[in-house]
Amino acid sequence: MLNKGKKYFTKGLLRWNTKENNRLMPWKGEKDPYKIWLSEIILQQTRVEQGWNYYNRFITTFPDIKKLAKAPEQKVFKLWEGLGYYTRCKNLLATANYIAREKNGKFPGTYDEILDLKGVGTYTAAAIASFAFNLPHAVVDGNVYRVLSRFFGIEMATGTTTGKKFFTELAEELLDKKLPGIYNQAIMDFGAVICKPKNPLCIQCPLKTRCIARLKGKIDELPVKAAPLIKKKRWFYYLIFEYNGKIYIRKRGAKDIWENLYEFVLVETERPITMENIKATDIFKKIAGKGMPSILQVSEMFRQQLTHQTIHSCFIRLKLKNAPLLKDYKAVGYRELSRLPFPKIITAYLAENELKAFVQ
Ligand code: ADE
Repeated sequence: MLNKGKKYFTKGLLRWNTKENNRLMPWKGEKDPYKIWLSEIILQQTRVEQGWNYYNRFITTFPDIKKLAKAPEQKVFKLWEGLGYYTRCKNLLATANYIAREKNGKFPGTYDEILDLKGVGTYTAAAIASFAFNLPHAVVDGNVYRVLSRFFGIEMATGTTTGKKFFTELAEELLDKKLPGIYNQAIMDFGAVICKPKNPLCIQCPLKTRCIARLKGKIDELPVKAAPLIKKKRWFYYLIFEYNGKIYIRKRGAKDIWENLYEFVLVETERPITMENIKATDIFKKIAGKGMPSILQVSEMFRQQLTHQTIHSCFIRLKLKNAPLLKDYKAVGYRELSRLPFPKIITAYLAENELKAFVQ
């Protein structure tokens, strides 16, 4: 690759950033590493438009890292609700605690120390190091893969170890070492505004005359990603047992998705099953006891896509005739539901049904 092409790229990108980039985001230009870290953790989980509100709510509730560290877990989980992948939220709290206790609330200021923080990978470390401390580390994410693979016409798969290494080295070479924060934000914005995944604005693109993908008509073929993973499918039948105006919920344990979030009685299967199958399960028989509960409602199937699995959920409301024997569960009124953190698929169900009066 010609060095001239690289210089042209960096210069053109920064020029576009100064002259044309008017993308506004609440964390843009921020220098406080705590706020940058928070925004990046949220943006690991969601798109900018949705992350915006979460970020503002977090910053308002916890204006500095010590306040976040002191917060009760449940309160933080509630603010995180809807973002999913709660390991990230747990890491957020663990890191806040670590910095508050071990570093007296002072966010670490070197790339290696930042990278050592729980929940912080190379991308986030480079973002924090460059935005907050002006350190020369290039961000490499989906935006960067797309922009670089198209401009330089690179057909190497981005999901492989060699691909990652290649793109990272190229990104480091292209980085403006004097303005790493500005350059990193510019390439992200460029990827989001101009060099978009679908229907990129090539006509408006300031780099179009030397973009290899455009010259070769390969815009839609780049970047090349690795073969997609086979996703596991799971069916969750949630039984909402009601007795005396209360329903039964429990906190999910470790070693699976949604740790520490609440759920109803669960029958999990690898394929769809019928109500008769559910009635024949041990848990159902144990809870129902002698009297068959009446079925109040069977929901449609809800679906949630996680990174490596698809969850299908059906919710069945049942009225019990006898008090159930449920050791690990607690009985709560519908109103209490709004104070507890639930997985997204459950809040989606609650919001769509007559229970919605009781959820925020
Ligand atoms: N995605 C992750 N970090 C981002 C940032 N700082 N700006 C825009 N999109 C992002």
